[in-house]
Amino acid sequence: MGKILVTGCAGYIGSVATDLFLKNGYAIVGVDNFQTGYRLVIEVLKNKYKNFSFYERDLKDNLDDIFQKEKDIKIVVHYAASCMVDESMKDPQKYFSNNVCGSLNLLNTMLKFNVKKIVFSSTCAVYGETQYTPVDENHPKNPINPYGESKRMVEKIIEWYGKLLGLNYFILRYFNVCGASDDGEIGDSKKPSVLLVQNAVRGALGIEKFYLTCPKVDTPDNTPIRDYINVVDLNEAHLLAVEKLLKEDNIFEIINLGTGSGNSVLEIVSKVEEITGKKIDRVFGKTRAGEYAKIYASIEKAKKVLGWQPKRTIEDSVKSLIAWYQKHPNGWEK
Ligand SMILES: NC(=O)c1ccc[n+]([C@@H]2O[C@H](COP(=O)([O-])OP(=O)(O)OC[C@H]3O[C@@H](n4cnc5c(N)ncnc54)[C@H](O)[C@@H]3O)[C@@H](O)[C@H]2O)c1
Repeated sequence: MGKILVTGCAGYIGSVATDLFLKNGYAIVGVDNFQTGYRLVIEVLKNKYKNFSFYERDLKDNLDDIFQKEKDIKIVVHYAASCMVDESMKDPQKYFSNNVCGSLNLLNTMLKFNVKKIVFSSTCAVYGETQYTPVDENHPKNPINPYGESKRMVEKIIEWYGKLLGLNYFILRYFNVCGASDDGEIGDSKKPSVLLVQNAVRGALGIEKFYLTCPKVDTPDNTPIRDYINVVDLNEAHLLAVEKLLKEDNIFEIINLGTGSGNSVLEIVSKVEEITGKKIDRVFGKTRAGEYAKIYASIEKAKKVLGWQPKRTIEDSVKSLIAWYQKHPNGWEK
């Protein structure tokens, strides 16, 4: 079957993915530099599974030895990135350097070792301000922050490598990711977290004060509308993408991953209150820069090409987060 190289496996989405891939019998080679990832989750995964090797490494550094030592890498699933919109507005250099240069070095090393299949974590931030909803993959791409722009740049490099160098790919554009693994054992530890559902649950559980940091926008309740996709559903789509890439050649696909519908920030907060039975203080925090009013995905292509659709509801995501934060109020501590 060969091995899957997973970058960013110590981060939120990558750690849930690594658990899922290992559970499904794949051998995983993980890479992370712990920039925003956590050592503890690597220990948990190492203790739970045999087929997992890990390298602490920055993707901008030389990666040859990993491909040399792990001879049978067949495919790369590339989650590693800097991914905070607000931070990218303050420090664009970090975003172009880490996301573009890191990905470029990874892609060039893959080709050097004849690994020509990749699943790339992209984002709905490549679309920018929505011109229509639901947003399909052909929607104009006008990123309005360096984070989205850096992801679009990597998409373009991958597309050119597909045309000219035989790279096969699924570029997966995620909408807003939420939830933890179904058993609540692996989840998000961003400090501070910028993810709404996570923060609302922490607020309801009394772990941390919940601040509304969204801008006032032109939607029915004046809070932004986003499409909240469960992290396990999202990673199940990656599993299908991996299976397809391992079986077939000539795959050059860009696909949205969302639920196909949107919720406003206040709707999510009310939902978390309803499920937890706790009132959340709505302290308005500092407005975030580089944000837009409304976006949700068309997921018709994901259904057609991957045979995928989300199975978990927002209630499921909130419940998995409650389980996660009850065991790990502050996520992984180190
Ligand atoms: N969380 C979301 O809602 C969301 C939405 C759209 C897209 N994405 C994308 O999903 C991916 C994962 O996001 P996440 O929420 O899990 O973020 P995260 O910060 O929790 O995980 C990213 C991981 O990559 C590692 N990393 C970063 N730069 C690295 C480098 N140069 N070398 C090695 N490791 C490096 C970090 O240490 C971290 O473990 C990112 O590519 C992000 O852009 C996330």
